Amino acid sequence: VVTEVGALGRHLALAGFMGAGKTSIGREVARLTERPFVDTDAEVERRFGPIPTLFDERGEEEFRRLEEEVVAEALADDDPAVVALGGGAVTREATRERLSRRAFTVWLDVDVDVAWEHVRESDRPLARDEGSFRRLFAERRPLYEALADGRAGDVDGVLLAALAVAVRRGALGELGGYLPAEGPVALVADETVLPLHPPRWDAAATRLIATHTVPAGEAAKTPAVAERLWRELALDRRGKIVAFGGGCTTDLAGFVAATYLRGVGWIAVPTTLVGQVDAAIGGKTGVDLAEGKNVAGAFHMPERVVVDPDLLATLPERERRQGLAEVVKTGLLAGKPVWELPDEEMVRACAAFKAAVVLSDPFERGRRAILNLGHTFAHALETASGYAVTHGDAVALGLLAAQRLSGQPTDVVEAVLRPRPVRVDRDAAWAALERDKKAVGGRTRLVLLRAPGDPVHGVELPPGDVRAALDELIAP
Ligand SMILES: NC(=O)c1ccc[n+]([C@@H]2O[C@H](COP(=O)([O-])OP(=O)(O)OC[C@H]3O[C@@H](n4cnc5c(N)ncnc54)[C@H](O)[C@@H]3O)[C@@H](O)[C@H]2O)c1
Repeated sequence: VVTEVGALGRHLALAGFMGAGKTSIGREVARLTERPFVDTDAEVERRFGPIPTLFDERGEEEFRRLEEEVVAEALADDDPAVVALGGGAVTREATRERLSRRAFTVWLDVDVDVAWEHVRESDRPLARDEGSFRRLFAERRPLYEALADGRAGDVDGVLLAALAVAVRRGALGELGGYLPAEGPVALVADETVLPLHPPRWDAAATRLIATHTVPAGEAAKTPAVAERLWRELALDRRGKIVAFGGGCTTDLAGFVAATYLRGVGWIAVPTTLVGQVDAAIGGKTGVDLAEGKNVAGAFHMPERVVVDPDLLATLPERERRQGLAEVVKTGLLAGKPVWELPDEEMVRACAAFKAAVVLSDPFERGRRAILNLGHTFAHALETASGYAVTHGDAVALGLLAAQRLSGQPTDVVEAVLRPRPVRVDRDAAWAALERDKKAVGGRTRLVLLRAPGDPVHGVELPPGDVRAALDELIAP
């Protein structure tokens, strides 16, 4: 199901005043999303010489014309890029129009004092005098505000905005404000979570036409529950499904959204750590069959993901551990000790990392596979135990194996997740690993780390080494 969400499949343009950090933030966002980076100021200078000279010798109007040309060329390219726009580029009507057609534009909003500090020593023609700099700042703000599809202040903020993910404490108290502009809404909620955290709809309350509760946990992810929802839902094609619960609820409701009336839009409101850092982001949806987990599913990107870290306050410790395994996985992939952060920052950093990976490869044709770090081993242990071993505990063990096979230290995994070898049948675990859907051409392809923050996917190792690593995770 194809929906237009954020910067998926389109350019990600960064607009904002001089000194907002468009170039440095843009370069980092491009690196993390593996997209080409175009800095329009640098491109103008490369072609036409230094901007101060252009201003002095040919005048601002001529500079704007050349800049418009450069921006138009960058946006005409079909390969989605990150495009950092010169501060005044958006003063041209034609540029604004091209941005609205070809790009998702994030406004890098910065405090005027910070901006002035960044540029006061520079040779920028419009930053020669503080008074006029401040006047221009005030004049331009409404322009950025009117034009932008999202707003951010740092790299993670841009990544989150670019995939329509909002991370904000207290967001549930103003949920109505996060809904897309119009259309009826059906709430699909985990029956345990709903009474604990009733969402507030405010002005959007009249749009909420029904609330459908689903069982807590994996019991929700079945064809039977999906069928019940298909039958109960009374939405038209403009309708939206709001999924409220953990990864099980969002996987189910997202799948129902993908299939009901051949696809309606949906909004994910994850309530578990697993959901907030992983499951609700990226549009993988599905239900389980007796034949295996997630066997029937679809890629269907949520139009919004609303993450309220305050909801984690009621999460049982056991469930928190499940999420912590994904947090450690993310930290190893990103090369950042995100597990040391307080909840809100931890969730924000992990969600932003996942958003970057999804933006680089939405349909898992390549790089998105890095998110499976440790998961090949985890799936084998879960399956061999008949799902008695939880996913988080299995991932913790899987990370241990991945770190060992990568020749990387295992101390963080051990200290934060305290994985304990599990009692499962060794042959059954090995058989499950070999059956794993990531096995291509009869060989298991693993995600390993060359160094923290530097994953490789599709690695083939001798089966003996893989089996030995799996065996180490199993109690004697
Ligand atoms: N789509 C993806 O990309 C993706 C990624 C990772 C995991 N998943 C899927 O996610 C599922 C696991 O999700 P999960 O770990 O969030 O489990 P879950 O949805 O089963 O929730 C776990 C338990 O916590 C309860 N709960 C939820 N929020 C709560 C809160 N705020 N306070 C108190 N209790 C709360 C639920 O009622 C449930 O009993 C698995 O099916 C897995 O396959 C999907």
